[in-house]
Amino acid sequence: MELTTRYMGLDLKNPLVVSSSPLTMDIENLRACEAHGAGAVVLRSLYEEQIVNELEGRLDEDDMYHWYPEAAEHIKKISRGQFLRPYLSYIEKVRNEVSFPVIASINCFSPGSWTSFAEEVQKAGAHALELNVATHLPGAGEEPVALEPEQNIRAIIAEVKRRVDIPVAVKIGPHFSNLIGAARGMEQAGADALVIFNRYYRPDIDIEQLEVTSENYLSSPGEMSESLRWVGVLSKNVSCDLAANTGVHDYEGVVKQLLTGATVTQFCSVLYIQGLGYITNMLDDLKWWMKQKRFASVDDFRGMIVDDKINSEKFEQIHFLRRNARMFDKD
Ligand SMILES: Cc1cc2nc3c(=O)[nH]c(=O)nc-3n(C[C@H](O)[C@H](O)[C@H](O)COP(=O)(O)O)c2cc1C
Repeated sequence: MELTTRYMGLDLKNPLVVSSSPLTMDIENLRACEAHGAGAVVLRSLYEEQIVNELEGRLDEDDMYHWYPEAAEHIKKISRGQFLRPYLSYIEKVRNEVSFPVIASINCFSPGSWTSFAEEVQKAGAHALELNVATHLPGAGEEPVALEPEQNIRAIIAEVKRRVDIPVAVKIGPHFSNLIGAARGMEQAGADALVIFNRYYRPDIDIEQLEVTSENYLSSPGEMSESLRWVGVLSKNVSCDLAANTGVHDYEGVVKQLLTGATVTQFCSVLYIQGLGYITNMLDDLKWWMKQKRFASVDDFRGMIVDDKINSEKFEQIHFLRRNARMFDKD
């Protein structure tokens, strides 16, 4: 059974990619991911602020941080530990320890001086770079925004692509006024893949303590419908690769995303819940499903659902039709 997958020009054993999180910053975990069969891993991100701070040797208190004091505190604390060299050393080390593709990751929001660090990441041996551009709420700060958000993302991609030859994936959030147009623009700017979608921090409120809480940091399978829709829509509208992310918790999630046109799936919440050994279960179940359906390779069924015009249109439908709503009628 053929599970091999080409993602951004990289040859993966299968389409199961461990997404960016602290899980992938431990060499033992990476060995376990490989042993349990993952196709590739994305390392935890470095932040643009950390990179700029270290490259320029300063943290500008009067710059953007005054409207986001917790982030400033966090960054100040971790920046004292000098992050860049350890990140690069980690990439160098894992390149010798594991043989599957290792994708570095940077959370960024501007096409600034930090982009020189992308070259360092390439030199250290990362097979690819993922840019998480869904890190700041556009317009939330007091600083005037220099460029429109989509223009800004395109400028970041173009600048990074100018500096590196390795493939570049762009991890985005779901909120654009015209996601199809935005995605096309990112592709034109040079994105080799889009990661659909980053999962935002989701605030809740403790109504006893009257405080905002942040315990909801792992996804649930029900959250997959948004990325499923957009993988379906975008697979018909862009030709770059698509990594489906958020809410993929089992082989069924993997199968649905591949049927919808995803090149690979990315996940991490389920690994926090079930452990890294669960990658093997997902792979075994995927193979079992393919056998039942008599698919010899992943390419045999990738995009099959949206290749059908009627199914494809359902991904574009955003309101209940009368026939869907009938069950709610009183009589
Ligand atoms: C503890 C934790 C840390 C994460 N750190 C990062 C990060 O450094 N960079 C990033 O791009 N995404 C990060 N993510 C987001 C995940 O890569 C992923 O996009 C998100 O959790 C949705 O996938 P899931 O439903 O499988 O969890 C993190 C997620 C978790 C739970």
